[in-house]
Amino acid sequence: MQNKNKIPVCLIGAGRIGLTHEFDKKRIKPASHVGMWTSFKKTKLLGICDKKIDNFILSKKINKKIKYFDNPIKMIKEIKPKIVSIATWKDTHYKMTKLCLNLGVKVIVLEKPLANNLYQAKKLINLMKAKKAKIIVNHRRRFDDEIIKLRKKIIKGEIGKILQVSSYYVYGLLTTGTHVIDTLRFLLNDIAGEVNKVSGYTNNFKGYHSKDDKNYDAIIFFKNGLKATMQSLNIKKYDIFDFHIYGTKGKLLITGIGRSIFKYKIIKSPEHEGFEELSLNPQKICASLPRKQFLKLAKNATLCLQNKKIKPLCSAYDSYVDMEVIDKIVLSAKNGSVIKKIKLK
Ligand SMILES: NC(=O)c1ccc[n+]([C@@H]2O[C@H](COP(=O)([O-])OP(=O)(O)OC[C@H]3O[C@@H](n4cnc5c(N)ncnc54)[C@H](O)[C@@H]3O)[C@@H](O)[C@H]2O)c1
Repeated sequence: MQNKNKIPVCLIGAGRIGLTHEFDKKRIKPASHVGMWTSFKKTKLLGICDKKIDNFILSKKINKKIKYFDNPIKMIKEIKPKIVSIATWKDTHYKMTKLCLNLGVKVIVLEKPLANNLYQAKKLINLMKAKKAKIIVNHRRRFDDEIIKLRKKIIKGEIGKILQVSSYYVYGLLTTGTHVIDTLRFLLNDIAGEVNKVSGYTNNFKGYHSKDDKNYDAIIFFKNGLKATMQSLNIKKYDIFDFHIYGTKGKLLITGIGRSIFKYKIIKSPEHEGFEELSLNPQKICASLPRKQFLKLAKNATLCLQNKKIKPLCSAYDSYVDMEVIDKIVLSAKNGSVIKKIKLK
């Protein structure tokens, strides 16, 4: 595609996910917003806005023509991007998204969370509707081809009726727990309905997390009665992002920080007559390699821009629900783990 026909894009926030992950030799590329918009054939990244110029200088290694701004309003007015990525600190997402919507940006790719609280999140959703714009939130498992395929398999009954789910994460409920909640909802909403109750628990064992984002454990209740647990561990010992999904016809395991998916069939017990158990030799149901979620995200963003009917693979509303689930887990934990209802509007 000729450069002049490409969709103009800007980025606000060129930190780790915005830019520097692109220079991590182990990560599959693109690994950042800069990498995504410069490698995707239909887009051209024309402007980067960050408080600090340091990382912008690094971005020159990827594309010399990108212009630097320290003011997002100036950048959007000058470049008139059709798509803007926001990868700034979490407490600035509301302000930056509102600013982009008010300046007429039609598609916003936003790092989680949507806003600082549910009141702001609701205001953003209303503004987005009024401006006929779309917000895509980067909960990356929704852009993962293998997780998308797994969801379809679960719906088709790959392991029968889902009876129990347990999941494990590290490094804070807001930072990583939010991805667990979003992945559970993505995989299970079609068969189990929406989350309707939660109970939260503080984790009394030492775990590393930032000061304003503790590790909590939780039971998440879905509308059809299914319960999923999420439990936190210590990232200083090892990283983990695992899901154990038990059904009437076997078990699915997502492990290796989401890269590997295994299916365990039911076999006859080698030890007890008349009993069945889960096989110890699972079948690998994907290649156990990282997926190019950023390319799927770029494709979804450009299609959202070009076609009114195309919806974000992870919408502002999805992020809103994830935020409500998080709020209620924290509230429940503070109130002796009583069950809190999720009241979605
Ligand atoms: N989706 C994911 O898997 C994933 C992974 C990592 C981070 N994140 C999210 O991405 C966001 C950024 O995280 P990070 O780890 O890249 O942080 P970071 O601190 O490395 O980068 C943030 C950048 O934003 C800039 N910035 C902050 N406020 C600004 C403002 N008002 N105007 C202009 N620039 C501003 C900072 O200078 C910094 O360069 C967070 O919300 C985080 O939760 C998501």
